[in-house]
Amino acid sequence: MPHPLSSLTPTIIPQMSPELPSYLSTPLKIGKVEVRSRVLQSPLSGVTDQVFRRLVRRYAPESMMYTEMVHASQIKHVRELPQIMDVDPDERPISVQLFDCRPDFLAEGAQMAVQEGADTVDINMGCPVNKITKNGGGSSLLRQPQLAEQIVGAVVAAVEVPVTVKTRIGWDDREINILEFGRRMEAAGAQMITIHGRTRAQGYNGKAQWEWIKRAKETLTIPVIANGDINSVETALQCLAETGADGVMCSRGTLGYPFLVGEIDWFLKTGELKQPPTVVERLRCAQEHLQALFEYKGKRGIYQSRKHMTWYARGFSGAHQLRHQLAQIESVQEGQDLIERAIAQL
Ligand SMILES: Cc1cc2nc3c(=O)[nH]c(=O)nc-3n(C[C@H](O)[C@H](O)[C@H](O)COP(=O)(O)O)c2cc1C
Repeated sequence: MPHPLSSLTPTIIPQMSPELPSYLSTPLKIGKVEVRSRVLQSPLSGVTDQVFRRLVRRYAPESMMYTEMVHASQIKHVRELPQIMDVDPDERPISVQLFDCRPDFLAEGAQMAVQEGADTVDINMGCPVNKITKNGGGSSLLRQPQLAEQIVGAVVAAVEVPVTVKTRIGWDDREINILEFGRRMEAAGAQMITIHGRTRAQGYNGKAQWEWIKRAKETLTIPVIANGDINSVETALQCLAETGADGVMCSRGTLGYPFLVGEIDWFLKTGELKQPPTVVERLRCAQEHLQALFEYKGKRGIYQSRKHMTWYARGFSGAHQLRHQLAQIESVQEGQDLIERAIAQL
């Protein structure tokens, strides 16, 4: 049966309120956890700290957020970790994402994540970075399905909260094994799987191959979340129509744009497009982000803010120069002044 969204082309979506399939306005059930949104903010290392999540949550209060990935064996030193696993007791729903390849470390890490406040524990089986794959973690688990099963089994046995997996479609185009891999994760006890529709070899390049997410959705009974190239309401609808996924997860589209998850969530709930933020609103958000990062992390927050600031400075005349300047700021005041001047010149 064609998906109810499949007759809508992305270009006509803005002009109409389509009949959205009713499941999209029902809660997403991750085991015993109910999430009242079908749009998720992905884990992004170096980005999705508490400050960023708070901004995203302002526009998407019901969406699931993820911490940056946390190395399970470092979790014992969680107090010393640079606030990677800090969870505000008020931020719900929240998933802590762990990476490692040792089931016992991951099981112990998951227990600590739950103590920190995790509503679900997610295992990273998709990271393509060499440093991680050569130690057997991230996407290299796609090539070690038995170990991946042991990991899921050990973590499920260690915690009461649902355990989920985020992965890719395969190692490379010759080794696309998401269907078999997904079945094995489900059988091992995973309660949801997020599939980034690229292979490990693709890295972050080329198009996400949503057709594999569709096939995985047809194969599995646990919720399947589609990830990759979801940068707008239109692409979210297109992806849902093409895959029939239970939800979508936004990633790079949220860099410098913490409004995205909320925009898609709003559309799925109401059938209406939210007015996008103006350039001034985006730049005011950048100023708030900068201030909050400094308050949260001190001087380190300023250095980390540089990349965020350059992501905000897009899409208006003078943005190129502002980006260049923001990439070098040494203080909050310097950043605020630069943005203030840019706003005055708009
Ligand atoms: C800067 C950056 C950091 C990322 N960090 C993580 C991470 O910590 N955990 C994870 O599972 N995926 C991570 N990813 C992958 C994204 O969550 C997502 O799967 C990927 O970017 C595909 O979605 P997109 O095409 O919408 O960007 C990261 C990606 C980027 C660009």
